[in-house]
Amino acid sequence: MTVSPALPAAPKVAVIVVAAGSGSRLGHAEPKAFVLLHMRPLLEHALDSIFDMNEPAQIIVVAPGDRVADARAIAAHAAARHTAARHVTFASALSIVAGGRTRQESVDHGLSALLPSIDVVLVHDAARALTPAALCDQVVAAVRATRHGIIPGLPVVDTIKRVAASGAILGTVDRSELSAVQTPQGFPRAMFEAARTWAAANGRFEALTDDAALVADAGHPVTVIAGHPLAFKITTPEDLERADLILHAATPPPVLLPRIGTGLDVHAFAADDSTELWLAGLFWPGEKGLSGHSDGDVAAHAICDALLGAAGLGDIGSIFGTADPRFSGAHGDVFLIETLRLVRAAGYLVGNVSVQIIGNRPKFSPRRAEAEARLSGILSAPVNLAATTTDALGFTGRGEGIAATATALLYPAPSAAPSAAPGTGQTPDLNWEA
Ligand code: CTP
Ligand code: MG
Repeated sequence: MTVSPALPAAPKVAVIVVAAGSGSRLGHAEPKAFVLLHMRPLLEHALDSIFDMNEPAQIIVVAPGDRVADARAIAAHAAARHTAARHVTFASALSIVAGGRTRQESVDHGLSALLPSIDVVLVHDAARALTPAALCDQVVAAVRATRHGIIPGLPVVDTIKRVAASGAILGTVDRSELSAVQTPQGFPRAMFEAARTWAAANGRFEALTDDAALVADAGHPVTVIAGHPLAFKITTPEDLERADLILHAATPPPVLLPRIGTGLDVHAFAADDSTELWLAGLFWPGEKGLSGHSDGDVAAHAICDALLGAAGLGDIGSIFGTADPRFSGAHGDVFLIETLRLVRAAGYLVGNVSVQIIGNRPKFSPRRAEAEARLSGILSAPVNLAATTTDALGFTGRGEGIAATATALLYPAPSAAPSAAPGTGQTPDLNWEA
């Protein structure tokens, strides 16, 4: 296990995550940073990358003024998850501040929370929620190596035209000179603060919305490094859909392990002599029958419970009902066939089944192979049957009824796509006509 170093008492890098915008182009009622993507706010996704940086950083979240408490809760939740995963305490260097009217004002509010130890400052849009941590690390490394401002950018692939309000084309821009810039944008702290002071003093603040432009305008060097396609800004509903598709594609399918289940069933012998005995899928002429709503085949019923239990689909009573008129007198194969269908729909095949029948009668061994062949045929899997008495002890020993236990092993069907997740207790629809 890799254990990252503890967050230094005095971190050197700070990331200001600006999340105070309203997201008017996204068009949600919530401010953009709180819009959910795969059930988590965009802000939390953005923070995940920051927490995953090689060098643990001071994190300053700039939130809408009326959502500071919510942003704190989201950040604390993300910090706790990463603390547990990386054995690093992040909470001590986490600040949440209220944003301003413009992005620049929001950055300013963030800067006011910098710890004295910080010498590299990154400014990052929460709206670039899927930005990889490695890009943040690369920006930090490049700031340190060059002592420049560093911004990630991607080459522009489309042909760019300058167009008049009328729609007339004024010219084609040389795209080899163009870069679509992203965040995080990183700067040596002293350079960044000096540039902002200069911009404020020279009335440039309102005009320059991008951190790098402001630094370059004040005469400091800014260099572009390779950006990352995942650092795209979520601005419109189409961007959010794209992010959703990317996360969906990246989510691995659930790993299905083999599963076992056990079942037990008991039926009393019927009081009358006319009830037929059905056991292990066979009719036993001349033997005393078992009482029950169905045919009382304890072996078949125990197998059903073992299969349903292994698949996490509940039990025979909850699936078939104990008083459903459709199952009055029904034989074991009816239950087994439908149980097998449900198990397969859940993404499993039967590995094998082992059954123990407990009772004085009928004498089972002469028809053991016949019963095994019948049940194995129904389940398309080996079924082993054993029978025992209880040495005259208990209700089976007194000849009051028959019991059976079963153990079943299921294994995931190759490229199984479960239609009902095992273990959810969800009862699938029964479709008897199908
Ligand atoms: N931002 C901010 N404070 C503002 C405006 C924007 O912190 N007053 C942040 C946004 O939260 C976002 C980043 O700056 O993370 C980039 O801005 P943008 O994508 O334009 O977000 P919004 O301004 O929220 O969206 P829109 O322009 O569609 O309203
Ligand atoms: Mg905006």
